[in-house]
Amino acid sequence: MQLIVLLLELLCASATAEILETIAQWPLLDFALPYEREFLNRYRPENVVPTGIEIGWDRIFVSVPRLRAGIPSTLNYIPRNLPLESSPQLQAYPSWDWHAAGRGDLNCSMLISVYRTKLDRCDRLWVVDSGVMTSIEDFRPVCPPKIMVFDSKTNELVRQFTFPREVLRPNTLLTNVIIDDTAATTCDDVFLYISDTTGPGMLVFDGATERSWRVVHATMYPHPDFSTYRIGSDTFELLDGVVGLAFSARLGTVYYQPLATDRLFSVPTTALQAGPLPFGEQLPVTLVGKKSSQGLALAVDPRDDAILFSPFTETAIAAWQPQTNQQRILAYSPEKLQFTAEIRWTERDDGNYWLLSTRFQKFFRQEVNARDINIRIMRLVPMQYQKHPILNSFSQPYFPPQFYNNTIGF
Ligand SMILES: *[C@@H]1O[C@H](CO)[C@@H](O)[C@H](O)[C@H]1NC(C)=O
Ligand SMILES: *[C@@H]1O[C@H](CO)[C@@H](O)[C@H](O)[C@H]1NC(C)=O
Repeated sequence: MQLIVLLLELLCASATAEILETIAQWPLLDFALPYEREFLNRYRPENVVPTGIEIGWDRIFVSVPRLRAGIPSTLNYIPRNLPLESSPQLQAYPSWDWHAAGRGDLNCSMLISVYRTKLDRCDRLWVVDSGVMTSIEDFRPVCPPKIMVFDSKTNELVRQFTFPREVLRPNTLLTNVIIDDTAATTCDDVFLYISDTTGPGMLVFDGATERSWRVVHATMYPHPDFSTYRIGSDTFELLDGVVGLAFSARLGTVYYQPLATDRLFSVPTTALQAGPLPFGEQLPVTLVGKKSSQGLALAVDPRDDAILFSPFTETAIAAWQPQTNQQRILAYSPEKLQFTAEIRWTERDDGNYWLLSTRFQKFFRQEVNARDINIRIMRLVPMQYQKHPILNSFSQPYFPPQFYNNTIGF
């Protein structure tokens, strides 16, 4: 009881407390499918779980990797201005022609399986295609992984790059991407930092020279003691390495976390940009802190360099400023925050945070209930704009006082 009181005081005292607003929600994702028998026959809605969102000016891009069979299109969009809690049909992006894999036709010039995308300042969508079919079922690398850049104004492909064999490993699965344009003079000479979750490792792409290289560190591997996840009454096991990525432009730092860990790490961008490490040399990685439980999504608030994260077991969104060690709980919901797959700070929405939560654990265990809301795209809205008091969402008797410990060194 004391704990709740303490938390409520904390939230009431803080003028910047926030609340969850559900933009779109679905029991299972629904697609505006073309009238083609092959697409219709193969579609398996209970296998379709999104992993990434990107917020455009008028659209929300939704990535749906081919974890299992039955995914119609791996990259999609929905309109942004929708009544709250709508369940819109997903439209294939840029068009169905790019998603022949959804009718069983594998062509490496097309999109195969996409986990996450990012828009740059020129409103171009950078898409990292893993090239891996049915990664949870039988992990079939059918095409080399590639980067595809689409101009979101014309929806045309404007750039592409296929990763050379030497930066890949037999298990390579590219899942997340950061665009670093801090030293860029155009929208092309950017650096990309890409997570290889099952390699495990990280790929760096230098947009100016079209070179790519691989960096690895022991901290990018899954920790065997943290491969079991608890969300509500569900547990599941997955030995996944580095997947959560966030970037502070001001500090020149990339934060990352494997899925199977309770720790958060950082590496300076100068070290990533320096090219392949000479043999035997180590990447200068720092242990930033320890979390109360594992999580996937990470983000940095560019206004104060606070790190946002979502510990699975606590079903919350928390913010932590490593320099001051200040902590805040931005949202808490055992119902709506089951498996937060993405947290996006959105410059195209006045710096509001957008979230994707998916109940991945239920899809993974093939126990998804089509009568529940399983997938939500949400926005964190500052509380003063909201009629409903945040206190309603705090009904759970247990809430940990501390999400993070600032442990320096190893
Ligand atoms: C793959 O798609 C490209 C672009 O549409 C096309 O030119 C090519 O012929 C296709 N390849 C195969 C094997 O169908
Ligand atoms: C942080 O440290 C305190 C005191 O050592 C400990 O009780 C708590 O469990 C730790 N929290 C995390 C998230 O590791």
